[in-house]
Amino acid sequence: MSNYETITIEKRGNVAILTINRPDKMNALNKMVHAEGVAALDELRRDSAVRVLVITGAGEKSFIAGADISEFEGQTPVTQRDLFHEKTFFNSIDAFPKPVIAMVNGFCLGGGNELALACDLRVCSENARFAQPEINLGIMCGGGGTQRLPRLIGEGRAMEIMLTGDMIDAETALRFGLVNHVYPAAELEAKTMELAAKIAEKAPIALQLSKEAVKFASRSNLDEGLRREIDLFAICFSTEDKKEGVSAFLEKRKPVFKGR
Ligand code: COA
Repeated sequence: MSNYETITIEKRGNVAILTINRPDKMNALNKMVHAEGVAALDELRRDSAVRVLVITGAGEKSFIAGADISEFEGQTPVTQRDLFHEKTFFNSIDAFPKPVIAMVNGFCLGGGNELALACDLRVCSENARFAQPEINLGIMCGGGGTQRLPRLIGEGRAMEIMLTGDMIDAETALRFGLVNHVYPAAELEAKTMELAAKIAEKAPIALQLSKEAVKFASRSNLDEGLRREIDLFAICFSTEDKKEGVSAFLEKRKPVFKGR
């Protein structure tokens, strides 16, 4: 892997952990984090040894406290639009073919929450806090929040989060379905790695196609979605992993999937 300034990558078995590493700025997303995040995801996508990605923030306090507000100064509508028309970290996560887990270890605000929303699963510590506080700066979400949040938790709840800018706590996030699990801070990493390792043992191609099909659900009507599911299901039948999975079941042993 290349060396990056604002992020670190660690590999543990088949799981990679990408950490946004600006703890003195609450891991706010500046232009360099976006650029390095996009480049790192490109490398991780091509690395067949990596089967699951975990994204988190450095330090004890914050996952990501949003866009780097200092970079908003001097931006014009045109430069800001250009920036978000380029390949963003959000879009690269959305398009990443392998499962991505957001491990939310503190403040998850603005673009931080939008980044977590672009991931497939979200787990958090009991001290995590979530908000879309853009409204307090006289702006609105620009990293996918207005589209992904209502799809995940429903329009009424998303609307309240967007229009008030208020923070919600981890228990509320769990009740809303914004996160899959809440753990004590001391257990967050171990529990997240357990979940990641469990997924990383599954057949990589089937994981990728399942992810593609589920993501298509909120982007299509039911008939198109059901047709897409059948096509992707059929592709699974061309894989060695399907042969291995079925044989292992019939032979009463654990399958070993190779991603072929
Ligand atoms: N952009 C740029 N810098 C940020 C930042 C952001 N989104 N969030 C925090 N920081 C910086 C602070 O400016 C401060 O830097 P400094 O030490 O050089 O002054 C440092 O991170 C620590 O933050 P601080 O505010 O002192 O910590 P806190 O514990 O009192 O509060 C937050 C933490 C996250 C509640 C608070 O920093 C905050 O509200 N941040 C902005 C959140 C936001 O509006 N995000 C959406 C942006 S669209």
